[in-house]
Amino acid sequence: MTSPRPRISKAVIPAAGLGTRFLPATKATPKEMLPVVDRPAIQYVVEEATAAGLTDVLMITGRNKRPLEDHFDRNYELEEALNRKGDDERLSRVRESNDLATMHYVRQGDPRGLGHAVLCAAPHVGDQPFAVLLGDDLIDPRDPLLSLMTEVQQAYGGSVVALMEVAPEQIHLYGCAAVEPVDRDGVRRVTGLVEKPAAADAPSNYAIIGRYVLDPGVFEVLRKTPPGRGGEIQLTDALQAMALDPSLGGPVHGVIFSGRRYDTGDKGDYLRAIVRLACERPDLGPDFRAWLRRYVGEEMPNLE
Ligand code: UTP
Repeated sequence: MTSPRPRISKAVIPAAGLGTRFLPATKATPKEMLPVVDRPAIQYVVEEATAAGLTDVLMITGRNKRPLEDHFDRNYELEEALNRKGDDERLSRVRESNDLATMHYVRQGDPRGLGHAVLCAAPHVGDQPFAVLLGDDLIDPRDPLLSLMTEVQQAYGGSVVALMEVAPEQIHLYGCAAVEPVDRDGVRRVTGLVEKPAAADAPSNYAIIGRYVLDPGVFEVLRKTPPGRGGEIQLTDALQAMALDPSLGGPVHGVIFSGRRYDTGDKGDYLRAIVRLACERPDLGPDFRAWLRRYVGEEMPNLE
């Protein structure tokens, strides 16, 4: 009888990128702290990890790390002030990020790429499979993905990536997977990966999005992975090696995601996330939707 696979309890959230697409907003503030309606983007990501049962969270931070740490810590002064005023509603909002998970932080130093950021998690993760959630990738909480990925990892072993079908003209923005079918709907075996291919060279329309469940073998592979595209150590290159040689931490499977997802590091997607989530919020939605309808119907046509 084979022993059951080790349970996944640790999540790693790389949040040390430079965020150059969002300058100057990200000059002194990590892009993960930009608000999506009234919570920083990173809070949605940590909530997603805990909703999937991952309560040990390691955040990979870099320069300007303070706001990230502070957000998941107590703010006694603020709590005391709201307490004195008897403002229980705001007090609970301040506190909601305090006890989401057991938070740990490690600094990446030089941002030498996503692969290098993941490698910084090696001492904390040890020899168990673990999840990686990119801090600027927001998966709508109503479309759970991570719990499905951990389930697939428990069933097949190895590593699991999240795949999203995109239009051919968009594929050059993503890592792209060559896939073959397996015996389960919505899951594919990944046979190869290419980082940001031209549409003509892309092996499929499946883009890799920012959720992974990785075998700890990935660390050894990353140690040997030379800098790739853009001089950065690419996680995609390590996953490619694991897909080709499953003894390194594969096989690699892909879970197809067709829910709502926003790249909050991209200005257009960031705005779409805010408008959509605000429209759908019970407290803000009715007023905001009424304004938006007026704006789109009356004022916007004059801009074109
Ligand atoms: P991006 O590719 O979005 O890079 O990183 P970036 O530097 O943050 O943003 P731009 O392109 O300059 O605007 C994907 C994820 O990997 C993390 C980022 O924080 C983001 O969550 N990352 C990237 C690191 O933690 N370290 C790195 O060295 C690079």
